[in-house]
Amino acid sequence: MISWREEFALGIPQLDEQHKKLFDIAGRIYELLKDEYAIDKYDGIVELIEELKDYTIYHFKTEEEYMESIGYKKFFTHKMEHEKFVDRITNVDLNQVDENHDAYLLETLDFVVKWIEKHILEKDKMIVAG
Ligand SMILES: [Fe+2]
Repeated sequence: MISWREEFALGIPQLDEQHKKLFDIAGRIYELLKDEYAIDKYDGIVELIEELKDYTIYHFKTEEEYMESIGYKKFFTHKMEHEKFVDRITNVDLNQVDENHDAYLLETLDFVVKWIEKHILEKDKMIVAG
């Protein structure tokens, strides 16, 4: 099960809501990936991956605006982490997506979810720690 947990809470409602939505989308990708009977499964997955990518970019922008608004000192290193991650997910080769590539998709999803979890716990938490 992929889902947002209380330990990810920053106490900034807008950012927490967006983090929840990231986990929602990732969870939907996982469910679809595991669904052996879904029609047009891979089209659906490609669509959801695009949604996750777009939403991540949108969320990072919100978070960066927030950091700037409070004059966060580690703004640039944090922003660089975001950029590296966006580069990485932009280079995911969706052409590899066909019925033989469940493992590739699972691996990609696992990487994305683990990155987001670690990033929230280690980097986003520092924004609120001051
Ligand atoms: Fe962040």
